[in-house]
Amino acid sequence: MNNFKPKTLFLGKNLIYLPSCHSTNDIAHEIIQNKQGFDGTIVITDNQTAGRGQRGNSWEAQPNQNITFSVILKPNFLIPTQQFQLNMAVSLAVKEFLSVYLPSEKFSNQLKIKWPNDLYFGNKKIGGILIENSISASSINNSIIGIGLNINQLGFNDNKATSIRAILNSNEISLQKMIEELCEFLEKYYLQLKNGGQILQKKMYLENLFWINETHQFTAFGEDFSGTIKGINEVGMLEIEVNNTIRTFGFKEVSFLITN
Ligand code: BTN
Repeated sequence: MNNFKPKTLFLGKNLIYLPSCHSTNDIAHEIIQNKQGFDGTIVITDNQTAGRGQRGNSWEAQPNQNITFSVILKPNFLIPTQQFQLNMAVSLAVKEFLSVYLPSEKFSNQLKIKWPNDLYFGNKKIGGILIENSISASSINNSIIGIGLNINQLGFNDNKATSIRAILNSNEISLQKMIEELCEFLEKYYLQLKNGGQILQKKMYLENLFWINETHQFTAFGEDFSGTIKGINEVGMLEIEVNNTIRTFGFKEVSFLITN
């Protein structure tokens, strides 16, 4: 990482590289507390030993195989109810980055964003995002964007996961160049959002959404049901049509029943 040079204005210019750490999101929290968390600072490790995922889950990544990193942003142009806009910008950036390696023409559009911010290839998870915001009454002060992407890892405890290398059946891919590219896509979408791109980004997010307008099985509040994702509301809750009625779900309220 000593020659790390993303072609960006600010994102990734301040790099904190740790050969090993428990969680890059936790390190980013500490950096903010120590007042060293400049806008666009990134924290990268080769070996994350206690990675955290959504819903209190852990995030497993074999050492030196995958991208595990966090970005500190200061999106104070967003008010607290607009948090999902940042989620969409980041999800689109990661999706476009992965498309460089898994182009939609070659892979028949199998790369999708699973609501709210998982990256899926077919029915398998290839990456996840954990965004942790600190908010005041009027804005988002600090955002820690944790990104875990499966790049070179070939074996997974969870058979619902895959990696770029497993899909391409290729040799090992160099991570440094990839992280530079990822910073460039993140900055592109972040600045587009800052410059008023939220309507366009919502449209793109919906176009790239896993299971959109398809009928599938879900589970919520102890009940399995069949429904069709129709969109998201203004705060990013998922809208599913069930028996001709739109039901709206918050993040921890609904799960997708994915079969392989
Ligand atoms: C998910 O559950 O899908 C989100 C996974 C997020 C994992 C990344 S890896 C880098 C950063 N540090 C963490 O502890 N978690 C995130």
